[in-house]
Amino acid sequence: MWSVVGMKSIRSRIRPKAPRGERSELVGTILEGKYLVGDRIGTGGTGIVFSAIRLADDAEVVIKTLRTRFAESGDLCRRLRREGEVARRVHHPAIVRVFDEGMLHDGSPFIVMERIEGEGLNQILRREGTLEIDEALLLVRRVCDVLHHAHAKGYVHRDVKPEHIILSAGPQGLEFRLLDFGVCAADSAPHDERERERGRVYGTPNYVSPEQASGDPDVDGRADVFGLGVCLFEMLLARVPFSGRDVTQLLRRIIREDAPRAGLLDFRISREVDALIAKMIARVPEERFASARAVSRAVASLELVDASTETRLLNKLRSVAAESEDETVEALDGAALLAAAFG
Ligand SMILES: Nc1ncnc2c1ncn2[C@@H]1O[C@H](COP(=O)(O)OP(=O)(O)O)[C@@H](O)[C@H]1O
Ligand SMILES: [Mg+2]
Repeated sequence: MWSVVGMKSIRSRIRPKAPRGERSELVGTILEGKYLVGDRIGTGGTGIVFSAIRLADDAEVVIKTLRTRFAESGDLCRRLRREGEVARRVHHPAIVRVFDEGMLHDGSPFIVMERIEGEGLNQILRREGTLEIDEALLLVRRVCDVLHHAHAKGYVHRDVKPEHIILSAGPQGLEFRLLDFGVCAADSAPHDERERERGRVYGTPNYVSPEQASGDPDVDGRADVFGLGVCLFEMLLARVPFSGRDVTQLLRRIIREDAPRAGLLDFRISREVDALIAKMIARVPEERFASARAVSRAVASLELVDASTETRLLNKLRSVAAESEDETVEALDGAALLAAAFG
């Protein structure tokens, strides 16, 4: 049992601000006698993420729950638990560890994760505008490595975007995590789940591949190659390749139009880098790189990343990471899961 004094000092470490918003009733409560919930640190399309203290050892962890409106969706509950499955099955330092799972008072699940300190690539891009070509390519290679491992175990992330790429300075240099396997496609998913996915768009509109945009549930690793290609385009040009008046128009364009050539939009981009990007975001999957590994090899063969690249990138990180607010929820590119049927 926790003494009153012990509990008080733990509570003071959490120091919740006046809680407001969705799931704010959880702030300051103890889940399953094990986790004291602190402030909300992030909101995604389907999930809300809180800081928390694991009472057994005082460790700082993170609790991810579903947004209230999704609490009764069986598929989304299963997806949240699947994030735990991915963490258990794909052994890679860039995948956030999931320690435990449990159930909230409304019967919906929560997962307990390692707390990641760092800056989202979206925040870095907001501050810096663009990255140098070698810096962007270094990140592409890092992301390809984790995608390769996930794909090999039968998981397609489906929501690769700057906000899910978290960078920090660690003892070994630049550390990175790929967050949020919450909308991944999984070979292990039951057949009926895949069928229910047909005609729905999973991912974030600005970054989805044409096959995701057309509601195809049977996507493979090339969908993530496309998403990463959009990220590379954005890292170099400070804009995404496709835009639209609304989500429907945006998705139609992704399905029907070829992406603009990066090399025509910016003279810094060489023919080789332009070709690399074009092959990552080719509309037809067969014209894309066949795998994340193949992208990684192509990047390596350009020989643009050198010993100074990582140091320069590290210098661009803000030393103290601010609270992450996922603003994209309101924005057009926001809904990480677009359940609307698109025909
Ligand atoms: N383990 C973590 N540590 C720190 N921040 C996190 C962690 N997981 C998520 N976040 C923050 O919360 C936001 C929403 O989490 P995410 O997993 O993307 O939810 P959703 O599935 O709803 O998109 C992330 O963009 C990130 O800023
Ligand atoms: Mg997310």
